[in-house]
Amino acid sequence: MQTFIENMPKAELHLHIEGTFEPELMFEIAQRNGIELPFADVEALRKAYDFRRLQDFLDIYYQGMNVLREEQDYYDLTWAYITKIHSENVLHTEIFFDPQGHTARDVPFETAVNGIHRALVDGKEKLGISFGLIMCILRHLDADDAMATLEQGFLHKDKIIGLGLDSSELGHPPEKFTDVFVRAKAEGFVIVAHAGEEGPPEYVYQALDLLKVDRIDHGNRALEDDALTQRIADEGMALTVCPLSNLKLCVVEDLAAHPIKEMLHAGLKATINSDDPAYFGGYMNANFLQLAEAVDLSKADVITLARNGFESTFLPDADKQVLL
Ligand code: ADE
Ligand code: ZN
Repeated sequence: MQTFIENMPKAELHLHIEGTFEPELMFEIAQRNGIELPFADVEALRKAYDFRRLQDFLDIYYQGMNVLREEQDYYDLTWAYITKIHSENVLHTEIFFDPQGHTARDVPFETAVNGIHRALVDGKEKLGISFGLIMCILRHLDADDAMATLEQGFLHKDKIIGLGLDSSELGHPPEKFTDVFVRAKAEGFVIVAHAGEEGPPEYVYQALDLLKVDRIDHGNRALEDDALTQRIADEGMALTVCPLSNLKLCVVEDLAAHPIKEMLHAGLKATINSDDPAYFGGYMNANFLQLAEAVDLSKADVITLARNGFESTFLPDADKQVLL
């Protein structure tokens, strides 16, 4: 199974570029920017990656991205991710970035987007990895800040294909941002949102009905509602599932308890993704392999999950067909 997964072509659809920040690179960039990290060394930082819930992780994730200041920092971060997935036979990736995590620290929007995008273009030209770049709104901040951030994103439509919603889910329902997402869709952005990771099925309904999402990020808790599950299946709406993230953030108690088989049996278009691989202990191959071993997936199941990934990209149909 390991060789099978390693050799299998894969598409990644749920990946926060700031969540690929490996401790070694974080210390290197901190040093060159003259920033002191509140950890003695790489080991001390890795030891802090012990989370009981999403917020525990987010606190350390925002602290980590704090060392990113210059366009080259964003380039280096993204290039490290691209070379990693190249070694794992990932042919296409649609990645998120969190502009407000940078602009709130007075790093200009364009510094982040230009550095990330330049590395993605190099990945396409040098390694043949196609990509999409999606800006995410931090849902713990207010709707006015989100709208102002979206306006900045519109200045980079040549680089950004869509809008997503991430950060602290509980207490920040999708409806808080309805106007922002309606505006984004009207301007031609594709729409995704984290929903049903920690939040209730109601948040998934809101993502569908109010934000008009084209994919649901996570979506685990949709399974608690049969009518909702049926609707997502009927609409052929993809779920970007993140097994190791679910484990590390205690969305599931144990990988063996992961609901991926229930999702497939319910006819849901589930895909496998790594979310924040530097923090959760594995990139695409590790997510596929550890999940397959934990719940005893067949090779046919693994192929279905990988094919769902390619079918659910935001590539134009002609380009999608080439990958399929
Ligand atoms: N930001 C980065 N990773 C996230 C996740 N899994 N859920 C919500 N916000 C995030
Ligand atoms: Zn995520």
